[in-house]
Amino acid sequence: MDDETGRTGQTKSTAGGQGPRVAVFGATGGIGRHLVPELLARGVEVRVVSRSRENLERDFAGSGAEIVAADIGEREAADRAAEGCDVVVHAVGLPAEAFERHLPLARSTVDAADRAGARCFLVTSYWSYGPGDDGAMSEVRARTGDSRMSEVREEQERIFLEEGGAVARLPDFFGPDPGFSLLNDGLESLAGGDTVSWPGDPEAPRDFVYYPDAGRLLAELVLDERSYGEPWNVPGSGAETPRSLLESAARIAGRELRLRRIRRWMAYLVAPFDSEVRAFLDIMPLYEAPVVLDCSKLEGLLGDVETTDYEEALSATLDWMEARR
Ligand SMILES: NC(=O)c1ccc[n+]([C@@H]2O[C@H](COP(=O)([O-])OP(=O)(O)OC[C@H]3O[C@@H](n4cnc5c(N)ncnc54)[C@H](OP(=O)(O)O)[C@@H]3O)[C@@H](O)[C@H]2O)c1
Repeated sequence: MDDETGRTGQTKSTAGGQGPRVAVFGATGGIGRHLVPELLARGVEVRVVSRSRENLERDFAGSGAEIVAADIGEREAADRAAEGCDVVVHAVGLPAEAFERHLPLARSTVDAADRAGARCFLVTSYWSYGPGDDGAMSEVRARTGDSRMSEVREEQERIFLEEGGAVARLPDFFGPDPGFSLLNDGLESLAGGDTVSWPGDPEAPRDFVYYPDAGRLLAELVLDERSYGEPWNVPGSGAETPRSLLESAARIAGRELRLRRIRRWMAYLVAPFDSEVRAFLDIMPLYEAPVVLDCSKLEGLLGDVETTDYEEALSATLDWMEARR
């Protein structure tokens, strides 16, 4: 037991089994693919959920996870996906053009979890802070700036927190996974001998979280009942400038780094012809400022948190990219 209330800190089963049963909504995304094995390795019963059965089978056939194809935006399907679970993890990513959908989907998850008697857990990003500060931002830092996507992220968090859910705010991802990652895109260009186009300021220090570390830390938070009802900053491998990370990667790959900064005016020129760039403009100020998260609260909960150093993580990512060519 680890606190005066006698709680063990572990989420207990209400579903009748030995351990907790956890549904992961958005399981075939980059985070889901790394979180699910971490949960399974801890003896947790896991239900993996997304709309595409084919993708669920591609990622989880034979893993021991229960496969449920469901569009969690539909009430009956969301109920079916949450039924019998103790925790519902919402790790659903959406393309920038569909960002507003985060709100009805969050509401749908929270309501389905409530009807199932389950706790809910949101995987989200630092975007709810708006453009970062030079110093580290703690969980109480209020949102700044006027990005609609930041505002949507903040509203989505509120939906979970008001229902007693946990909210995990992560830095941008990178690592051996085909999911969406700005740094991976840069590494792919570098490894292919191309110029790396970096949207935003490559000299502004930012944290990046390595997919395997994100999966491990999220599994610990999901299974710790003290995390619920609160927001948590999740650490990456440390704040570094994108330029210095790309220089390290160039050295590891034996390549010369050619780096082109994409400035806001350039994005404005392209925006009329490219819906992704048009949508990205809303969030671009966050990529022109530092992203340094104060993760002392999470360290207070989980103890000393170890993450993979960039040298090792970049090497493994480049090897994985090379093997896929
Ligand atoms: N990329 C980053 O660097 C980064 C950084 C920090 C936080 N985040 C956030 O972390 C979360 C997880 O990100 P991710 O990259 O792992 O996500 P992702 O790769 O975009 O995954 C999307 C997942 O959601 C599922 N999905 C989408 N709509 C659905 C629906 N209506 N019903 C059921 N499933 C649905 C998709 O499967 P189907 O399409 O088959 O349904 C897929 O499994 C997202 O909120 C993301 O914005 C991302």
